[in-house]
Amino acid sequence: MRRIARFFAASLAAAAVLAAVLLLSPQPLRALDSAQLVEKRCTACHGIDQVYSQKRTAAGWREVVTRMAGYEGSELSRVDQLIIIKYLETNYGID
Ligand code: HEC
Repeated sequence: MRRIARFFAASLAAAAVLAAVLLLSPQPLRALDSAQLVEKRCTACHGIDQVYSQKRTAAGWREVVTRMAGYEGSELSRVDQLIIIKYLETNYGID
């Protein structure tokens, strides 16, 4: 009986640790979908249509995203900018 209780307690503790790790660990950056990042970071000041209504060259997207990052209230970290530029270049690019 005691052994069963101990086994039960140990499993419960293991499950609790696993749950804590899953809940507390930050999402790996790559797992964050780039399109979701655009939706999140690029709609604070205007609609998503503003972003997706035109295709641009790689240099064009770099220029736009850098300009957006300079506006007050923008929360675009350097990493966000790089991920977003890459995504827009790939999916909304022209040569
Ligand atoms: C802090 C506010 C803000 C955020 C956040 C923001 N924008 Fe803008 N965006 C603006 C303003 C203001 C304008 C109009 C002035 C301009 O064109 O620079 C604009 C205009 C634009 C335009 C049209 C610009 C042009 O030259 O034709 C595009 C495209 C655009 N934004 C894309 C984005 C993208 C992509 C993101 C996310 C990386 C983003 N915006 C995030 C404020 C913001």
